[in-house]
Amino acid sequence: MHNMNAKSLFLIVCSTLLFACGGGQEDHNDPVVLLEQDAGVQTDASSTDSSGDDNGTAPDADGQRDTGGTSDGGGDGDTSGAGQLPPPAQQVWGAAPAEDKDPAEDVVEVDLEAVEKKVTISEGRTLDMYTYNGEFPGPLIEADVGDKVVVNFTNKLPEPTTIHWHGLRIPDEMDGTPRVQAPVKPGESFKYEFTVPEAGSFWYHPHVRSNEQVEKGLYGLFVIRGENEPTYDQERYFTIDDILLDGDQFPPFLRRHPELMHGRYGNILLTNGSPDLLKLAAKQGQVERWRLVNPANARTMKLAIEGAEWRVIGTDGGLLEKPFTTETLELPVGQRYDVEIRYTEATAVKLNSLVRTRDNNGNIVEKAIPLAEVDVEQTGIQPRQVELPTVDIPELDRKPTRTEKITMNARRGGDHGIQWTLNGKANPEEPLFNFKNGETVKIALYNAAGPEHPFHLHGQFFKVVFDGREITDRPGLRDTVLVPGRTTIEIIAYLDNPGQWMAHCHILEHAELGMMSEIVIGE
Ligand code: C2O
Ligand code: CU
Ligand code: CU
Repeated sequence: MHNMNAKSLFLIVCSTLLFACGGGQEDHNDPVVLLEQDAGVQTDASSTDSSGDDNGTAPDADGQRDTGGTSDGGGDGDTSGAGQLPPPAQQVWGAAPAEDKDPAEDVVEVDLEAVEKKVTISEGRTLDMYTYNGEFPGPLIEADVGDKVVVNFTNKLPEPTTIHWHGLRIPDEMDGTPRVQAPVKPGESFKYEFTVPEAGSFWYHPHVRSNEQVEKGLYGLFVIRGENEPTYDQERYFTIDDILLDGDQFPPFLRRHPELMHGRYGNILLTNGSPDLLKLAAKQGQVERWRLVNPANARTMKLAIEGAEWRVIGTDGGLLEKPFTTETLELPVGQRYDVEIRYTEATAVKLNSLVRTRDNNGNIVEKAIPLAEVDVEQTGIQPRQVELPTVDIPELDRKPTRTEKITMNARRGGDHGIQWTLNGKANPEEPLFNFKNGETVKIALYNAAGPEHPFHLHGQFFKVVFDGREITDRPGLRDTVLVPGRTTIEIIAYLDNPGQWMAHCHILEHAELGMMSEIVIGE
């Protein structure tokens, strides 16, 4: 079943795992379990690994979400009378936009300051977090394709940081990684300046000790609109995160064995920064666009929408050539989905997170935890068909001219006893590959070990051509793809943006522990 390498690693991984987590026994002393006693306030979804389950993603979720907290974002624009739909909304609901200081039409200039802040995520729960501009999640950056974006960044944190613009095909010196810029020291500033090339739902986050800095709150959404965006009655954005808390503290990082192995799973789900059910309002007949982002350290979210018609219209690389429908959405860390929601009925529409948990008999079961609930008011109106623009993604037709392989594995070693490797190397100085600009490369991503790896390539897009099934249902352009344990995924990457680009696992602990390299694309 496994080859030798995979098997020996499997032993290293799982013998220690079983020791550390065997049936969850040891975990009963963990902070995670203390939180279970908060049931009724939070969504407790602790990272109790199940023995014999290599994905190790079986959370406990006994705590029912407190539906008492309301987080209506307002701005629903539904003040019109019955039978009348609100005018098309141009604004994204779900985050406060960053202020554009430049009056020019085609320039967006914002100030971002990374700063420590006490953030009340829910009634009675205040955390010492890292924030952009004191907000969690960070301010929404909005621009149109072709705009110049200027970000005046100041670091007020007690440690160095950078900002990386996840998914944007911009010049590499603006990519915000320590490989292309000296991290911004405490008290210092850096001006990021670039032209945004294409439309889509992107996000930003630091690229220094990101397992801690992102977990503590540093991320925000970056929306770029094209010329032919479809018009919706409302546009909403959801960041679906999880954080690990011990009381109101972030427990120490990179200490527990499951965290080194699977990444840091949280015990609380946060939607737009809130552990409470988001209560929203809409009208029957409305059609909305939801942008979904997973900024968690490690947890792949499995999402479902209940009570409304929906279809996927966009992925990491923007709108799809062909929208599709699906029962559930798998959203690994780093990825994005744009979905269209049609309110055909006056009902409570739910965005659910399907988490694995244990029932009273200790069996693993999947449980739907509502993250947001839209109260749809009756109007008797049926939603219109939203005209989607014709999307032509010429990249998708390109044939590969070169084939490469990246093997993802682990070994003993390093400061924490385990290192995660790409082609046998942990955090190598040397690039994995040197390519030429314009090359189309088929890359086999082979995960030789048990834990899954959401593989991310900076500054380029790719498509998934093989995911173990004959026909992949993962259309569109991606910058991140989930590679499950002991599986090969094939991608075709369009290397059209010259420079020095990171290629890494987006489980931030894996990246910190070595699974972080780069490719170089020559002029
Ligand atoms: Cu989300 Cu290296 O990035
Ligand atoms: Cu990135
Ligand atoms: Cu990984």
